[in-house]
This record gives sequence, structure tokens and C-alpha cells, in this order.
Amino acid sequence: TYIVTDACVRCKYTDCVEVCPVDCFYEGENFLVIHPDECIDCGVCEPECPVEAIKPDTEDDPDGKWLEINSKYAEVWPNITIKRDAPPDAEKFETETGKYEKYFS
Ligand code: SF4
Ligand code: F3S
Repeated sequence: TYIVTDACVRCKYTDCVEVCPVDCFYEGENFLVIHPDECIDCGVCEPECPVEAIKPDTEDDPDGKWLEINSKYAEVWPNITIKRDAPPDAEKFETETGKYEKYFS
């Protein structure tokens, strides 16, 4: 499966949702997640994200933390299939790391 990772937090550009053939993105207040059981591993969303937040779960997630976060919130957040405006201050957060811990948890 593919997963959304920390770079999405507070950037939330939503370019990714428009290309997913199975509509498996789910929207929280600060970032999106992919439903790992619904993703068909096509990979088309990965290059759409301007901040490279989307990765195969085999990369950049050695302890499975982001796979767990994607699984958990995909069950409770609403589905999103249409691009929305990013937060007005999204650019400020593009290069910041550890955003989930800082702003969300
Ligand atoms: Fe959707 Fe394909 Fe991305 Fe999975 S890899 S979330 S199926 S676009
Ligand atoms: Fe997030 Fe990138 Fe999609 S910032 S909403 S994963 S386009």
C-alpha cells in the first residue's frame, strides 16, 4: 500500500485525491490518509504531491508508525475525492519535520 506521511501535515494540498482510481483518501483537519486496505498500489498519487508526502509503506516508515496512523484515521475520517484549497499558511510548513507530533498528537 501507499501511505501519507508527515510532510502532509498542515500542507494538505489535496492534489493527490483527484487521481486515485479507487477514491481511498480520507480527510482530517490537518492532513489526509490513505486507507491501506483499499489502496491498489497503483502509485499514481505519489508524484502528484508537491511536498512528496506519499510513499510506499516499504519506504520511510521503518517502525510502521505511518501505516498505523493511516489505518487508524481512514476508518473514522470522511472520504475526500475533490481537491480543496490548501490551508492559507500551508507554504510555511513545507520543510518542517516532526509536524504530527508538534501539531496533531
Ligand atoms: Fe490511490 Fe493508487 Fe495512490 Fe493507492 S497508490 S492511494 S490506489 S492513487
Ligand atoms: Fe497531503 Fe500531498 Fe495530498 S500535501 S493532501 S499528500 S497532495
